[in-house]
Amino acid sequence: MSEARPTVVVTHPILEPGPTLLQEACEVRNLPNQYHHPVELLRKAAEGAQGLVTQLMDQVGEEVLSVPGLKVVSNVAVGFDNIDVPAATRHGVMVTNTPGILDDTTADFAFTLMIAAGRRLLEADRFTRSGAFKGWAIDMLLGHDVSQSTLGLIGFGRIGRGMARRAKGFGMRVLYYDEHPAPPEAEQELGVTRADLNRVLSESDFVSIHVPLTETTRHLISTPQFALMKPTAVLINTSRGPVVDEAALAVALRSDKIFAAGLDVYEKEPEVHPDLLKLDNVILAPHIASASVRTRSQMSEMAVRNLLTAVRGGRPPNLLNPEALNPR
Ligand code: GLV
Repeated sequence: MSEARPTVVVTHPILEPGPTLLQEACEVRNLPNQYHHPVELLRKAAEGAQGLVTQLMDQVGEEVLSVPGLKVVSNVAVGFDNIDVPAATRHGVMVTNTPGILDDTTADFAFTLMIAAGRRLLEADRFTRSGAFKGWAIDMLLGHDVSQSTLGLIGFGRIGRGMARRAKGFGMRVLYYDEHPAPPEAEQELGVTRADLNRVLSESDFVSIHVPLTETTRHLISTPQFALMKPTAVLINTSRGPVVDEAALAVALRSDKIFAAGLDVYEKEPEVHPDLLKLDNVILAPHIASASVRTRSQMSEMAVRNLLTAVRGGRPPNLLNPEALNPR
């Protein structure tokens, strides 16, 4: 007799080879095409399923995690602030993410935002398209150099270190703030110096955020922090929107407390603070830092492999809560 195929729920479409791998091994329930699924719908869909493939717009809390028989929630993202991991652990549900494979793609994009915001690339494009370009002028659209400037990294995990590697090629001085010091050899190899948050903010020309969203990092950057930054500084956020107080950022940008910003993430995605939409000195990207064909396909595959290992009774490689395997 052949074993029953596990039932799994896919909340939003994923990329190949994810769907093919899932179809080969599981009964797949795809949810209706909508950005936020109501919690009742998620719970109902999870009934009788062993695994969920989720994305960052799914809020997965107690109501869903308590569904009997659920073994794993596999998030197609490195961030997992959308999942109540302690509740998952209490219910013996494994939670997995997709670390590592998106580091370079995300650091590339954060660097892109840094240069584009510092050198006013999007403003310049709008200027040209509007017909305002009447010829070369020595003081036209002056920006600030990335080369030879100081980069301040808030968070020095894999993506933060990827930024430091790139910064080396641009001759930048790099300061980082992280609760956990990097090993001295890593600091030396990357040529970086650890400092407290205030020093990173006050000495940096570019500040790039690479921390997860937690209760400690929510609004880590708000009015008092903008007051410390240079008027020529540029802020980049490719981590999670709520790490930056958007209303305070809009004030800082409008009143020239800082020079510019490049954002990929927002406090209430997909909404963008209306005051930011009115400003020329902020680049607003739609949460695409990991959006390369290769990376998004690898994230889909990694999430599916995590899920398949778990529903088959194994320990997935990217398990975030090993305690879930030993319920008290
Ligand atoms: C995207 O934001 C991710 O966390 O992977």
